[in-house]
Parts: sequence; C-alpha cells; structure tokens
Amino acid sequence: MNVLILGSGGREHAFAWKIAQSKQLQNLYIAPGNAGTANCGTNVNVSVNDFEAIKNLVWEKDINLVLVGPEDPLVNGIHDYFLQDEVLKDIPVIGPKKDGAQLEGSKDFSKQFMQKYNVPTARYATFTKESLNNGYDFLETLEPPFVLKADGLAAGKGVLILEDIADAKRELKSMLMDAKFGAASTKVVIEEFLKGIELSVFVLTDGKSYKILPAAKDYKRIGEGDTGLNTGGMGAVSPVPFADEAFIKKVEEKVVKPTINGLNKEGIDYRGFIFIGLMNCNGEPQVIEYNCRMGDPETEAVIPRIKSDLLDLLQGVATQTLDKKKYDTIEEIATTVVMVSGGYPGDFTKGIEVSGLNHVKDSIVFHSGTKFNGDKVVTNGGRVFAITSFGKTIEEAVTKSFAAAEKINYDKKYYRKDIGRDLIKLKSFN
Ligand code: AMP
Ligand code: GLY
Repeated sequence: MNVLILGSGGREHAFAWKIAQSKQLQNLYIAPGNAGTANCGTNVNVSVNDFEAIKNLVWEKDINLVLVGPEDPLVNGIHDYFLQDEVLKDIPVIGPKKDGAQLEGSKDFSKQFMQKYNVPTARYATFTKESLNNGYDFLETLEPPFVLKADGLAAGKGVLILEDIADAKRELKSMLMDAKFGAASTKVVIEEFLKGIELSVFVLTDGKSYKILPAAKDYKRIGEGDTGLNTGGMGAVSPVPFADEAFIKKVEEKVVKPTINGLNKEGIDYRGFIFIGLMNCNGEPQVIEYNCRMGDPETEAVIPRIKSDLLDLLQGVATQTLDKKKYDTIEEIATTVVMVSGGYPGDFTKGIEVSGLNHVKDSIVFHSGTKFNGDKVVTNGGRVFAITSFGKTIEEAVTKSFAAAEKINYDKKYYRKDIGRDLIKLKSFN
C-alpha cells in the first residue's frame, strides 16, 4: 500500500515511524513532514490545506490511504473534498468529514451533542452578541473560576479561565463584541469549572466499532510545577496511573459508547480518531472537550505503546472491519519529553543548528519542528523534539528521556525536567 500522512509535527512523525514498520506498506509519503519524517518515508512539500495540490500528489503517487494529522484540514472538509471528487472518491481518508469534525470545530456543537446523548460534561450555556446580557446573568449563577470558550478553532488559545467575575464579564464582552478571537468567538460557551485531574483517552473508530487506545496525560504549561503560559504540550505519560481499568471501563460505558451511538443517530459517518479530553472528578469521568484527531505530544507516547500493525488497524477503519482487527498494547510505560526553542510559547528563533541526534540510543527522538538546511538538521518551530522512552516505572522511562534531551543540543534549548513527577507520587499502576 502507498500511504500519505498529512502534517509536520511530532504526531505525524510518530504515525510515520509506526506505519513504516508495517509489512503492508510499500511507499510512505509525508506532506509536508519534517527532518524526522524523512527517515520514515518521502517528504513532499505540500501544505495540509492545499487540497488541490494534495489531489495531484495522491494521483501522481498512486496513494491508497490518507491519514490526516491536524484538525485544520478536517474542519475545512478535506474528507468531503475527496468524496466529492471523481478521481479521489474511493481513496480512504482517516479522519472525519466536516460534520464529524464539528466535535472539535464548534464547542457549542460538541456541548449540545454531549447533552443530547447524556455524555457527562460541565453545565454550560452558549451566548452571542445579542445575548450578552444573558451571558452576564449566567456568570452570576456560577462559582469562580469562570470558564469561557470561543466556539470555533482558535489555535488552542480560545479558552479563558478567570477567577474574578468582573474579568469574566469583560472578557466575554471582548470575545463577543470585539471579536477577540476573530470569527471563532462569534459564539461563546460559558461552563462550570471542573475540579479534578485531567487526562486524555483516544478512540479509533470506523463508525460502527471502536478500539480504545492507551490513555495519556499531557503537560500543557511551559514551566515546571505547571506554571507559566499554556503551550501545545510539553510532555506526556502513558498509561496514566489514576486511570485504572475500572476508570477506563466507566469512560467506555459513559462516554465512548454514547459518543459512538450519538454519532450514528446524528447520521455522522465518523472514521478516524476521537481524542477525548477528560477530567477525573473523584473517580467519575467528565468530558472537557472532543478533538477530531490525535493529540500532540500524546501521540508520541501512545502510538509506540501499540503493538499491533497500525496500518492494518487503519485499513479496518477504511473498510469498516475494525472489529476484526488485532489490537494489542505494550505493557511498559512510555514517557515523552518535549524540547522547545528558547522563548516558546512567545517569540523564538528558527533555523538553529542541532547536534547530538546520533548520540541518543535508548529513546525514540520524534521531530516536532525541524527541517533540513542542506544536510544539517535545524530548528523550525516552537516545539522541536519529542523524546519517548520506555520503562517499567515512570521514573525509569523519564530518566532515559532526560538523558537523551541532554545529548541533543541547540542554542537556547529548553525542556521541563518534571514530566511525570506528579504521577510518580501517586499510587502505583494496577
Ligand atoms: P480545551 O481547549 O477545551 O481543552 O480547554 C483548554 C484547557 O482548559 C483544558 O485542557 C483544561 O485544562 C481547561 N478547561 C477547559 N474546560 C474546563 C472546565 N470546564 N473546568 C476546568 N478546566 C477546564
Ligand atoms: N496536546 C493537546 C492537543 O493536542 O490538543
């Protein structure tokens, strides 16, 4: 089979690394890819949102399956574009159509969906310019902190959590009246704050059956001890000690099954990954959000823990035979430490030369933001590498990731040295 992966981050490198191991693979292409994905297949310089260029690429390279990494092309309708095209219509796309991608593309849609299908989630209401005053009234009914969410995609920045009601009202006004997040904040969801520990559960579905993939915890803040600005994610651990078998079973019964059934009832033929952001509130799952794709850096910890052939599973999704496919995971713990550019998530410099990559032996170095400058690897993003290691304990795994991060060098490199530390303190895995 010839496979095309769309995207250029650590998530796509992890997909490429795994798919490259499949016996069913002939040729692998990654568009646009990075310096790391070039070790797994052929990079092609095509943007994930340039559907026409993707069409030409699929045609030219005789692609049999397309795996979409990021949410943007899905929300923009790449799957629908394939289905409507005479040449492309029979080529499977892994990732939902526009309707299913609304689970991530519109917070209002996803909250309505959860409410309709009894998926546990925080109490909420949605407001527009016209109902600003009702929004103020709704805020008065809640306890602080106040959670405001721009309805549309806002590059991960559209959620505000505010302690003070006056600030919450001011921000609500700014989102609705001054388009603080552009068109994304034409509608704003206000919801109750959930107290608990956060984790992500990933599901692969062909629309009929599903596989629950390993769960992971992400570290979103730039600073150690979960301080400072939000980032795309600074590290991940899989599995998650506080998500034991009993908890995952609850997630399956209370969240996964109603979600898959709900999609069916809505007539949404969903084929791809569902990323469920959850809060474990005293042992009960509450859904914070859905994403229509895998997480980054969670993928870099989750995918290496899948023992089975990922391409075979994806073919199961494409042909709606996922229930017949073998799915096994690796028991060992995986930890991922993300190395970033100095200054990230604020301003940072790109194009800095990287050294030491060949010295890493005990870890997998996924590239998040790199490119080639001649034959040299240089930085090309805020997040630069995601280093995944295995161990019998979190400590053993993360020590390997830190050791690798010490061997890789570029000017102003930074990474959090406390990934997994909070979990080490918790009870052991069951
Ligand atoms: P989202 O973009 O919906 O994932 O929100 C970003 C982050 O805000 C989440 O990962 C949570 O850490 C936090 N968050 C979102 N909604 C809530 C909520 N209702 N209660 C507590 N924290 C939340
Ligand atoms: N790591 C969070 C995300 O991918 O959205």
